[in-house]
Amino acid sequence: MRTGKFTVTLLIGAPGAGKGTQAEFVREALGMPHISTGDLLRDHRRQGTPLGRTARDYMDRGDLVPDDLVVKMVVQRLEEPDATHGVLLDGFPRTQHQADSLDAELAARGGGVLVALYLDVPQHVLFGRLSGRRVCDKCNGTFHVEMHDLPADGSCPTCGWRLVQRRDDQRAAVARRIHVYMDQTTPVLEHYRAMRLVHRVHGDQPVDAIKDELLTVLQQKQPTLAAS
Ligand code: AP5
Repeated sequence: MRTGKFTVTLLIGAPGAGKGTQAEFVREALGMPHISTGDLLRDHRRQGTPLGRTARDYMDRGDLVPDDLVVKMVVQRLEEPDATHGVLLDGFPRTQHQADSLDAELAARGGGVLVALYLDVPQHVLFGRLSGRRVCDKCNGTFHVEMHDLPADGSCPTCGWRLVQRRDDQRAAVARRIHVYMDQTTPVLEHYRAMRLVHRVHGDQPVDAIKDELLTVLQQKQPTLAAS
């Protein structure tokens, strides 16, 4: 989809709400890059960059990485050639400061937020999803031990590398992440609600049902999508 205007679609939801799972479908529908700040930070950690080393302790205990570092990382990513027309942002903005920074960046580009897709999932469901999640150390593929028929040898069904449990999917870190989400990210939802940009989706449904609803919303927001 190419509109000429720089548009950003947001995926907002608590840890384990299914943002990464749905991002694959939304990215494909939009034809725009998927930028997950969690994935970018994990890449920095794997590469051992100064940002990755700074971010590690915050991430492992379930706290947010400081705003100035994350905003700089996102703005740099938006400068890359594949992001000329817009992006799908997953996990950003997560604080009021990040939202204000994004608004300023979009205003400078003459762009705007197309829609903030909010995946609303009850807390007790989030714990079950995160404790059973397994991720590929290499291709970032995401699975669930109860939802997917995973190879007994622990290899990734997509690329054959190894599946691991994220350190921040341990119970104490999950509780901290959910607390941080309630405290710092729910104000961001209110920020976009006031701009009438939020579309809430009931996120405790089968993956395909959520996908269908999200794609319907996107087609309503951007009718050219249906033809693309
Ligand atoms: P990040 O990686 O963004 O983690 P998160 O927001 O906590 O989200 P998750 O990746 O845990 O969950 P998800 O919503 O993507 O769910 P998923 O699709 O995997 O961030 C990690 C850390 O990085 C943060 O804690 C922070 O330290 C730092 N960070 C990142 N962004 C930052 C920012 N902007 N500012 C500061 N710090 C930042 O699904 C979860 C599981 O459920 C999977 O197993 C999946 O298979 C399963 N599942 C998905 N959908 C369904 C469904 N409908 N039914 C049943 N199971 C499902």
